[in-house]
Amino acid sequence: MKVLVATEKPFAAAAVAGIKNIVEGAGHTLALLEKYTSKEELLAAVADADALIVRSDKVTAEVADAARNLKIVVRAGAGFDNLDLDALSAHRVVAMNTPGQNANAVAELAIAMMIFMCRNQFTPATGSEVMGKKIGIQAFGNVGRLVGKKAEALGMSVMAVDPFIPAEKISEMGATPAASVEELYSSCNFVSVHIPATPETIGSIGYDLITKMPKGATLINTARKEVIDEAGLEKALEERPDLKYATDIAPSNYAALREKFGERVFATPKKMGAQTAEANLNAGLAAANQICAFFKDGCTRFQLNKF
Ligand code: 3PG
Repeated sequence: MKVLVATEKPFAAAAVAGIKNIVEGAGHTLALLEKYTSKEELLAAVADADALIVRSDKVTAEVADAARNLKIVVRAGAGFDNLDLDALSAHRVVAMNTPGQNANAVAELAIAMMIFMCRNQFTPATGSEVMGKKIGIQAFGNVGRLVGKKAEALGMSVMAVDPFIPAEKISEMGATPAASVEELYSSCNFVSVHIPATPETIGSIGYDLITKMPKGATLINTARKEVIDEAGLEKALEERPDLKYATDIAPSNYAALREKFGERVFATPKKMGAQTAEANLNAGLAAANQICAFFKDGCTRFQLNKF
């Protein structure tokens, strides 16, 4: 079988070497399309691929149509909003993710961003400390729980909310459950966002929630840019000169935000939460192993679509 790794933002070299070992060790062949700059390159590369490994690369209906031999696509990472699951199902292509494999890398970035914002982006202005402050975790999955643990080790108190995890379970996992998302925002000095981008969550964090935050609060988004209502964020930052926003992927209005609010806002130049050697290895090797297990035994663990 031909396994294509198509990554506009490539994996670390060691991860590619590890994927190659696994794929070739199982008797398959590996093809590599890295740093591609046009949709056409991806469409051409998938034409004869039996399996596909991607990162945030968009696997659209057009890609699914072009990939005539495709049987499985694995998103090496957690969020799968870049996969058109309906189109893949229509072609009877199994779609999977690799949950948890990037979690520590993203959690470390969330903590780093929190401290970076407390220290005014490492400018000489007087900053503040995180010890003794409260962090609110919006969605207590693999990443959120790790952020909570790390924040606790920094002397912070941790509150969390998750529509899929009951309050008792959140308490058992060491955080104070918030009764609602509104309570989380109104009680925490920092809110760290870990919700996926879905039709329900897109644009769900806006003016009303953000302005509930206490004086001097910071919102940290290492999830998806789409979950923020950008006009609402801008209005909130305008009305509340004490609030700050840090995000792992620039909002569409970043230039305007930066001009208006300076160091109160920060965005990474490219999504870099999972951009560590360790996360690349974890997620890349997991993807390769999942594909080999699928071809060998029909294993469909972590399948996201049904058909
Ligand atoms: C994820 O959902 O796992 C992260 O957002 C990683 O995205 P990336 O592979 O594009 O870095």
